[in-house]
Amino acid sequence: MNKIELKNVKNVLLLGATGGIGNAILNYLLEENSTLYIYTLSRSPVEYPRVHNTIASTINEASLSDFISSIPTVKFDLIINTIGYLENEHGGPEKSLRDISEEKLIEYFRTNAILTPLLAKVVRNNLSSEGFAFVALSAMVGSIGENELGGWYGYRASKSALNAFLKNIALEWGRTNKRSLVLAIHPGTTQTRLSEKFNSFVTHKVHSPNEAAANICNVIFSSSFSMTGNFLNWDGRVIDW
Ligand SMILES: NC(=O)c1ccc[n+]([C@@H]2O[C@H](COP(=O)([O-])OP(=O)(O)OC[C@H]3O[C@@H](n4cnc5c(N)ncnc54)[C@H](OP(=O)(O)O)[C@@H]3O)[C@@H](O)[C@H]2O)c1
Repeated sequence: MNKIELKNVKNVLLLGATGGIGNAILNYLLEENSTLYIYTLSRSPVEYPRVHNTIASTINEASLSDFISSIPTVKFDLIINTIGYLENEHGGPEKSLRDISEEKLIEYFRTNAILTPLLAKVVRNNLSSEGFAFVALSAMVGSIGENELGGWYGYRASKSALNAFLKNIALEWGRTNKRSLVLAIHPGTTQTRLSEKFNSFVTHKVHSPNEAAANICNVIFSSSFSMTGNFLNWDGRVIDW
């Protein structure tokens, strides 16, 4: 096969399973394949049959590494990072340069950008030899080419950095493995905790988490390995970096 088939997936690693889109992806995968197992690392419990959940107070290089060390023989066909942050108690996305701060920019990059290459580093010896997909949820606003509005400095730039990391991972793994699919995927505007304050300003369609999950999985399972290193929209369109 030239792509990952959902019916053949045995083991999935999912980060962000407590989030709106991540939890909908978890449910979609469990429903569409009655034998696969999902391994999750999260800050609060995720309790489902066929889900092996590990809790860590912080998701960082150390907890990712401990998590993978605890399941050394598991080989993953699909790895998805849906962790992302737009707003927290310290404030939301910046309208202008006057709103940026070192602390907030670091938090955006820590959560939205650097977890993905750290995940790739720790999971690199646990990838299925039959082929695998490694996916992180990016955002359309991370596209430098399609940025016409400005603002949202930290979120935009951290998602642009995430895209750059994914392109690099795709190139590194693609050199030695022609059955690797590394993708940045924009889920589409989706009704979740992350977006709820902003969706009233949106003029395009806002998806339910279940619609977003089905769209994302459709993109993953219809993309051939030759698509590795792309930034894809929820409908499969290639987005400008
Ligand atoms: N919703 C949209 O319209 C939209 C649009 C474009 C892109 N996206 C992207 O899609 C992804 C999923 O977002 P969502 O809409 O499902 O958001 P969500 O419901 O807020 O879920 C966010 C997830 O990220 C986790 N998370 C956030 N900060 C974290 C941190 N510092 N450490 C560890 N985990 C952290 C949350 O864990 P806790 O439950 O522990 O807080 C939760 O599992 C994100 O990458 C987001 O940027 C969303």
